[in-house]
Amino acid sequence: MEIVLARDPEDAAERVARVILARLERKPDLVLGLATGSTPVGVYRRLREAHARGEASFARVRTFNLDEYLDVPADHPQSYRTFMRTHLFEGIDIRPENIHFPPADGADLVRRCAEYERAIVDAGGIDVQLLGIGRNGHIGFNEPTSSLASRTRVKTLTERTLEDNARFYGPGERPPVLAVTMGIGTILSAREVLLQAMGQKKAQAVRNMVEGPVSSFFPASALQLHERVTAYVDPEAGSLLTMTAYYRRTRSLQEELRRAGRL
Ligand code: GLP
Repeated sequence: MEIVLARDPEDAAERVARVILARLERKPDLVLGLATGSTPVGVYRRLREAHARGEASFARVRTFNLDEYLDVPADHPQSYRTFMRTHLFEGIDIRPENIHFPPADGADLVRRCAEYERAIVDAGGIDVQLLGIGRNGHIGFNEPTSSLASRTRVKTLTERTLEDNARFYGPGERPPVLAVTMGIGTILSAREVLLQAMGQKKAQAVRNMVEGPVSSFFPASALQLHERVTAYVDPEAGSLLTMTAYYRRTRSLQEELRRAGRL
């Protein structure tokens, strides 16, 4: 895993956006795996701005979102479909038919989750997967004890996630207790993973993900098994890492090799 110690959250967002735009330039029909939450908001803003400046077109891009709450209507303010519309899709030229979410309502979920997996394969696989990380190490909604081989399926949310979400729902509304999420196996099948973590409250999670053992009890640690993961962390989120000098040195030496065209 490559660790990028960003100056601050804005610097991290800038770096991630730059990587996505570079990949898009090389492959206009890029397949993006997208995440929600507060973490990727700055990246999405930069992608919208690049599009507005005429520097990037998403007309041929296909997207697959990581997860969605089960039975939360698409137009609900807390649905991930609303989030993506507001933060990204409305501001770029993506075609509606190229936007994909896991099935999160109705019947036949097992079959439709398998179809979601097939749609990813049919699109040629995910080129770049964006990720945040939950404090308990979840990626997407792969909560602790998720199988490291899991694929898109229904997941039960943990108590902590339920507590975090309760405040977003009004009286009389039932906050979701289930979600549909790409599995850890799905995420590990992406060609490249860009993970961002910001703020003190993610520090222990970053430590466990990077320097802890691989364990389904800490799902993000499974990323150690992927050959192309870059984790962008701000100083607070990186504050519990023990090998920061090495990560810095690695990054600058690797960049030197890249600049010399040797990597
Ligand atoms: C949710 C999402 C995750 C996200 C996590 C962290 O649970 N399902 O994909 O990474 O929250 O959220 P935030 O970025 O707001 O800290």
